[in-house]
Amino acid sequence: MLNKIGLIGGGNIGGVLAQELCRRMLAKSVALMDVKDPDLAKGKCLDIAEGTPLIGTDIELIGGKEYDVLEGSEIVINTAGVPRTKRPDGSIPTREELLATNLRITDLVAAGISKYCPEAIVVSVANPLDAIVYRLYQQLSPPKSRLVGMAGALDSSRYRYFVAQAAGVSVENVEAIVLGGHGDTMVPIRSCCRIAGMPVEKFVDAETLEGIESRTRKAGGEIVGLLGIGSAFVSPALSALDMVESIVFDKKKIIPSCALLEGEYGVNGLFVGVPTLIGRNGIEKIIEVELTEAEKEGFKRSVAAVQKTVDEVGAMG
Ligand code: APR
Repeated sequence: MLNKIGLIGGGNIGGVLAQELCRRMLAKSVALMDVKDPDLAKGKCLDIAEGTPLIGTDIELIGGKEYDVLEGSEIVINTAGVPRTKRPDGSIPTREELLATNLRITDLVAAGISKYCPEAIVVSVANPLDAIVYRLYQQLSPPKSRLVGMAGALDSSRYRYFVAQAAGVSVENVEAIVLGGHGDTMVPIRSCCRIAGMPVEKFVDAETLEGIESRTRKAGGEIVGLLGIGSAFVSPALSALDMVESIVFDKKKIIPSCALLEGEYGVNGLFVGVPTLIGRNGIEKIIEVELTEAEKEGFKRSVAAVQKTVDEVGAMG
């Protein structure tokens, strides 16, 4: 158990995170910060705190509109930013279309982190994921082990779920990873997909797998279309929690996440989704997996898409 975990953004994802951090007793104090009036964060914290006698935990919940509530946090999870929402004409924006708004928010978030918890390990969830993590890196200049984006954990969970459904097996039997950027170019790595240690092709035919991989790439948009307002929030929160638990308990779990590459996979100076080993120090290792030629090509395309958004970040100053 840590002393304190901070959450920035107390909307849909932040709310599930606060509740789950408390239920799983991952820190003695959970701080939630949100700018929304009259005091969304305080209200959510009070609501959760009033339920703690029912779940038997004495975790302290601190909510507020100012960044000072985060003081001393050892891990900070950033969910501040607008989510995707279905437009009146029924179309679904891309994550990249959130860039300008969420960059402005990210700069405020970075200032809050550097003032009140500069040593914290930062797990960022806001979209467009890879570009926002890059901006946090520009503003905070942390050691690369202490800044990580949550994307691959979620994309891989979606892939695993779809494969389990198609194969008619437990989700627990399916191992899978999705690499690259957290956009429509992400790359589900079929060559690493196993069911109880056996190649996925033994259970699911190639055509079905292609359909699953395409659905995985668009899975976020599918939820946006169904919800009508906002985007997925339970599975993103659970994915971030998987990473946070690996930090808190020093589990050294290998989880695909958005990390700074310095030569790995032939990429330099960009944050991209790759398998990472996560422990008490944050990202402790980047794992390089053997990819097929087609997967390598897909990864290259995805890196190019991440680079394009990062260039836009640069152009916005
Ligand atoms: N500091 C703190 N919180 C902020 C700030 C800020 N500067 N600016 C906005 N927020 C808050 C909003 O007030 C809102 O309550 O961030 C919260 C975001 O919550 P939701 O709108 O419910 O969005 P959510 O579904 O939680 O997604 C958050 O994660 O997955 C991504 O695309 C998603 O970028 C989005 C982010």
